[in-house]
Amino acid sequence: MDLHISKQKQLKGEVSIPGDKSISHRSIILGSLAKGRTRVQGFLESEDCLNTLRAFRQMGVEIRKVQPTEYLITGSGLYGLKEPDQVIDCGNSGTSMRLLTGLLAAQKFYSVLTGDDSLRNRPMDRVIEPLSRMGAQIWGRSGYYAPLSIRGTGLNGLTYTLPVASAQVKSAILLAGLYADGDIQISEPGYSRDHTERMLKGFGIELKKERTQILMPYEKERVLEAQDICVPGDISSAAFFIAAGLIVPGSEIYIKNVGINSTRSGILEVIKRMGGNLKILNQHLEGGEPVADILVKSSQLRGVTIAGEIIPTLIDELPIIALLASQAEGETVISDAGELRVKETDRIKAMVMELTKLGVEIIEKPDGMIIHGPATLTGGCMVDSHGDHRIAMTMGIAELLTREGLTMKDRQSINTSFPQFYELLRSLM
Ligand code: S3P
Repeated sequence: MDLHISKQKQLKGEVSIPGDKSISHRSIILGSLAKGRTRVQGFLESEDCLNTLRAFRQMGVEIRKVQPTEYLITGSGLYGLKEPDQVIDCGNSGTSMRLLTGLLAAQKFYSVLTGDDSLRNRPMDRVIEPLSRMGAQIWGRSGYYAPLSIRGTGLNGLTYTLPVASAQVKSAILLAGLYADGDIQISEPGYSRDHTERMLKGFGIELKKERTQILMPYEKERVLEAQDICVPGDISSAAFFIAAGLIVPGSEIYIKNVGINSTRSGILEVIKRMGGNLKILNQHLEGGEPVADILVKSSQLRGVTIAGEIIPTLIDELPIIALLASQAEGETVISDAGELRVKETDRIKAMVMELTKLGVEIIEKPDGMIIHGPATLTGGCMVDSHGDHRIAMTMGIAELLTREGLTMKDRQSINTSFPQFYELLRSLM
């Protein structure tokens, strides 16, 4: 597909960012398990989240759309889900598959989860392994690739140290743990996003958190109480507009309603270190999550080193950060980010391949990349999204800096997380 959005003089105006993908998934899951009616406002109507929504409808939960982005969930209670009479298709969504694996492992029924070509080739052992220690019965191709076949059963408590910081793994264990007959203790090697912990507490579940340690003590008959949830804008989507504002000369963009939870906002710190002109305004709490507006102006950026503890807090933003680095003066080194290789595509390989086509000096490392900037991007070529929404949007922003535009394979993969991407981008032109 070729959209011919090229060489923008400047981007100016205001955009409101659609709902957070991670929080939208969790609102459907916990709303479905609650007693009573949960109202979700600002739900992200992207393919990934709609896959989670359909999965719960398949399990008998009544989820009604009242108006755009607003849904009413009539919870089935913790023990009210029904056996799905069809395979559940998670599409491209790793979050749907991993969180559902945890939940389904504890149900009194049998279920099968599948996904698209990308998802069927992503490792599920990271959830199967701890869940099996709890007594779960899960089978997959070669042991751990979807389709996954799950025979729900009674589960034990678990004390577990995650080998890598992962919100999906932590959340799968916590969801299974709601049904376990013992305590759940999780320790993470870093700070992954904490939306599940926050939302579980909001629904009335006792959970203690100290730094990267979680304790969810055993409780006999748990009840989740229905909630009103206001989903903040997704910082991972806002990241593309922040980047565009920084690198398209003469730009000034006011980005409204962005979730700035510290387990997600590593990109803001990196941009400050790069010398980006960015202001965080109107900070407030919404439904237990910190939210703000962001004002960004085009800036002279400099290369930085990004490694260690900050990585899980910006893991989904690394493709767009690599593009920022290509426009920064000097060298940017990204390391400790081997997790990028098991996302919707191998994002290290994909970014190196695509930025090289655009004339960027970039070196692949096993756990990251080294980028030398600034580069003048060559347009007129064919780039590939690798079927990955975040690579597609990164290329969509890169295109703004090319004279001839780009032709992109699988541009529509953007719909996975941000169907309004081009509509909002055009509103700034
Ligand atoms: C997510 C967690 C992250 C992230 C993904 C969404 C979530 O994955 O990359 O896009 O909603 O829990 P990991 O938990 O595997 O790091």
